[in-house]
Amino acid sequence: MDKKRVLTGITTTGTPHLGNYVGAIRPAIEASHSDEVEGYYFLADYHALIKADAPERVRESSREIAATWLALGLDTDKAVFYRQSDIPEILELTWVLSCSAAKGLMNRAHAYKAAVQANEEAGEDPDFGITMGLFSYPILMAADILMFRAHEIPVGRDQIQHVEMARDIAQRFNHHFGEEFVLPEAIVDDSVAVLQGLDGRKMSKSYGNTIPLFETEKRLQKSINKIKTNLLEPGEPKDPEDSTVFQVWEAFASPEQVEDMRREFANGIAWGEAKKRLFELINAELSPARERYNQLMDDPAFIEAELKRGADKARETASVLMARVRDAVGISAIR
Ligand code: TRP
Repeated sequence: MDKKRVLTGITTTGTPHLGNYVGAIRPAIEASHSDEVEGYYFLADYHALIKADAPERVRESSREIAATWLALGLDTDKAVFYRQSDIPEILELTWVLSCSAAKGLMNRAHAYKAAVQANEEAGEDPDFGITMGLFSYPILMAADILMFRAHEIPVGRDQIQHVEMARDIAQRFNHHFGEEFVLPEAIVDDSVAVLQGLDGRKMSKSYGNTIPLFETEKRLQKSINKIKTNLLEPGEPKDPEDSTVFQVWEAFASPEQVEDMRREFANGIAWGEAKKRLFELINAELSPARERYNQLMDDPAFIEAELKRGADKARETASVLMARVRDAVGISAIR
């Protein structure tokens, strides 16, 4: 049986945090160990240019994200792990797809619409500050996906629309030029937690409420101590359903540990004690990987070699597809 191709990209604009780990990285690495799955995981560094105009941040983030995936045990013999910008065929495909993508479809993209709306509310020109990169972002993402004929795209809810657009674009291309592309499907896994951040909202860089995945043990402890709680005293029963400490606990604990903590809450465990246990639990899961992460961060040549190896594998596939696509649209040697 053919393997299922699972592909996902990570925009290189930030430092990985516990929310990324629980919601995306951990499940992807687990899936990559399955024999039924062929994983394609990549650093979406061209996508980063849309959000970031700080070159150092993009560089640093690329290194951190690559080191994170490797430290957490991504099997790079099985999975293809690469950097988008190492695959020039992706940009070539982006242009070809741009010519199949309806402008009206792009007008409906949530991110673009939100930017227009913000401008209108501020009394600005609707297109103020909006680059063509932001506008055609979904086409670059479609190229990422369609290039490798990926079946399943694990993404957060905010990205579902982009995967649907990739599907639309593929359908239109296939209709005109022949069946080159597989129609991808967004996979949103409701069983993985959307982790809450320090303030109880979704953990997200844009809220500034994150706990970095591989910060030092001391800092991790400090971060966990900052998680918002209420004023209930030790001995007073606490509601687990209303607690970020409990929610984060659930993301790391075994089912028995979850039940134990539920009992502790009912028995009025002190917030300080609950946080101490939470720190110990998370730290136990992360500390071996943290050590590898720190070693990797000091060994950029190794990271680079891994990415290059992934790029070689990815380009083998990409160059074949790109040749077919070029030919399909009428770009070929004179013969
Ligand atoms: N746009 C995605 C995000 O910001 C990242 C991304 C780029 C991606 N290309 C992709 C995700 C292809 C899945 C498939 O999260």
